[in-house]
Amino acid sequence: MRNYLILFGFVVSLNAFAATPQELIKQYESQAKQENTTFTSFSAERGAAFFKTERVHSDGKKVSCATCHTADPRNQGKTRANKVIEPMAVVANPKRFTDAAKVEKWFGRNCKDVLERACSAQEKGDYIQYLLSVK
Ligand code: HEC
Repeated sequence: MRNYLILFGFVVSLNAFAATPQELIKQYESQAKQENTTFTSFSAERGAAFFKTERVHSDGKKVSCATCHTADPRNQGKTRANKVIEPMAVVANPKRFTDAAKVEKWFGRNCKDVLERACSAQEKGDYIQYLLSVK
């Protein structure tokens, strides 16, 4: 019994943290269907536009995801404090979108930072789809 419990805990923590981008897309897909009954599928083109579109923040500055992650996601980016951010495109950085907790944490932070609201599941899925599609 005890061994079962340990094994069970291990499997649960794996599900919570390790993932492939495809698994994350699946999770966001079921969420997107709940949020929006007309949702059909994610779009890399919509994700690309979302990544690059600048919005005027309430502090008056223009900001987009590309502000830190750069317009070409195969490149290294930079934080406002000038710290290097490893590339966002999966082709350049295979570690991207393999840790569900990390992905949620940064969507939370960065969507708030850029959009001043949370991202929808559709926006998250489009974003991952785009960064998977970059060759
Ligand atoms: C102010 C700078 C900044 C902006 C703007 C920004 N990010 Fe990020 N982002 C970061 C930093 C810093 C990290 C964490 C370091 C790392 O993962 O290399 C990160 C990591 C992420 C991750 C984690 C991905 C993974 O699997 O490792 C996601 C998802 C993400 N950002 C989404 C977005 C989205 C969506 C936007 C636009 C709405 C955005 N970011 C805009 C700085 C930024």
